[in-house]
Amino acid sequence: MSEMTPQRWSRTSQYLTDVFGQETPEMAAITQNAREAGLPEIAIDAVVGRLLKMLTAMTRGRLVIEVGTLGGYSAAWLEQGLADDGRLITIEIDPVHAAFAQREFERLGIADRIELREGDAAHVLAGMAEQLSPGSVDVVFLDADKQQYPRYWELVKPMIAEGGLIILDNALGSGQWWVGDDHPDRHAADRACRAIASDPDFDAVAFPLRQGVLVGRRIRIGR
Ligand SMILES: C[S@@+](CC[C@H](N)C(=O)[O-])C[C@H]1O[C@@H](n2cnc3c(N)ncnc32)[C@H](O)[C@@H]1O
Repeated sequence: MSEMTPQRWSRTSQYLTDVFGQETPEMAAITQNAREAGLPEIAIDAVVGRLLKMLTAMTRGRLVIEVGTLGGYSAAWLEQGLADDGRLITIEIDPVHAAFAQREFERLGIADRIELREGDAAHVLAGMAEQLSPGSVDVVFLDADKQQYPRYWELVKPMIAEGGLIILDNALGSGQWWVGDDHPDRHAADRACRAIASDPDFDAVAFPLRQGVLVGRRIRIGR
């Protein structure tokens, strides 16, 4: 079997973008506006966005939680997978990112379906864990502080409905680290991946798509 060299990898990524990375001008404008506003260029891409939309649409799509809003790009993809009466709660610590995302949600006409909660995600999630009934959330998408992934997982697991999904971005890497690297973010992502993969209540797999996307589905409510 031939090896996946960096050159082949980059051709594969380019192919995925060419074939599956289409987006509307309204979606592309989020990226352009974010660039002009000086936001860091660390959002997911359109290929991962389409996956988020499709996966959300495969659930009941009534309540979705996103951890790490940035400029609202991934939130706008998740919103497209919501049911008619669905809503998305997205959490962001940086007030500049939150204000930018809120403006984009209004520009796109989706602000009435998205609630932006500003604050540290672990703190906000701990509060939500007390408010929301167990098993009431259809999709949780984690994309904030990588070193907090194991903690986020602990907090969100009880909220996820049977048939609901946990999705992690950067499951395999980021600009600074990759599988096998000795980096605290990598170690934390690895701990979260292994915890989800070995959880008897979930089925899970990670795709080597962009920086790695883990998808776990709750198959039962355990004890
Ligand atoms: C990779 S970006 C999110 C990208 C976004 N999901 C997208 O693809 O469009 C990570 C975001 O998480 C936020 N963040 C970092 N640490 C956080 C924390 N402890 N609580 C909440 N948000 C945090 C950052 O400010 C940043 O906006």
